[in-house]
Amino acid sequence: MKAEESKFSLFSKRKSAEVDPSELKIPTHLAVIMDGNGRWAKKRMLPRSAGHRAGADNLKTLCKNCGHYGIKYVTVYAFSTENWSRPESEVHTLMELFVEYFDRYDPELEAEGIRVRFTGDIASLPENIQTVCKRAEEGSKHRDKMTLIVAFNYGGRREIVQAAQKLAEKVKAGAIRSEDISEELFAQNLYLPDVPDPDLIIRPSGEERTSNFLVWEGAYSELWFSDVLWPDFGMKELTDALIAYTRRDRRFGGLSKEKKDEE
Ligand code: FPP
Repeated sequence: MKAEESKFSLFSKRKSAEVDPSELKIPTHLAVIMDGNGRWAKKRMLPRSAGHRAGADNLKTLCKNCGHYGIKYVTVYAFSTENWSRPESEVHTLMELFVEYFDRYDPELEAEGIRVRFTGDIASLPENIQTVCKRAEEGSKHRDKMTLIVAFNYGGRREIVQAAQKLAEKVKAGAIRSEDISEELFAQNLYLPDVPDPDLIIRPSGEERTSNFLVWEGAYSELWFSDVLWPDFGMKELTDALIAYTRRDRRFGGLSKEKKDEE
């Protein structure tokens, strides 16, 4: 058995949910689609709002677990540009949870050194939600252990369209020429240009698609799917995802190191 294989077979027999971070390749940026709240609630004969509440609580657990592994950026999909089509009462619950969340959990986020940022079409959100975003960002910008990015009113296609609009304005104003538009310049006009692209995108709940999440930024992200519903997604599942990520060979369209050595 090769050394690599024996190392990984130790993981499969692991006794605790977590492993020592030094045994893994840790993504700089992890993104998570928090899916399955509704099904979690249905299984317990609870209203969907209870599922979303349990999902919001589990975000706190995710942050703690990512802290254990020293992950620097964690982006979570909390509300998409398509979620407005849900029943009004459900949209209302999600907005309420959002408003509540950053006040209620701020002491814990502070204790963990977590900076909060938002990505999405924030300017189109109701005034009170924009105020929550500004307050959470301002109050946490000195924290440097980890950055939690909450995608709210986020759609990957809308982000790309808005970047194109910004560039078109700059061309119209004579600030740039259309031939200056490169992938780099385009990326600088996305919502959070200073944040590195996600290395790994996780989707729990058994669905295997990315649903308009980080369309540009996720072009080379590794994907990992799990059948566990989001409110139950804990340390064991995160560790499983990180072990799978550690085994992946990221080539970004090039060749693996072994193949290059063969040449
Ligand atoms: C998808 O599950 C989940 C959402 C649309 C909302 C995710 C929101 C949270 C976890 C809580 C709010 C977050 C913050 C930051 C306060 P679904 O309800 O579509 O699940 P289903 O497919 O089982 O119905």
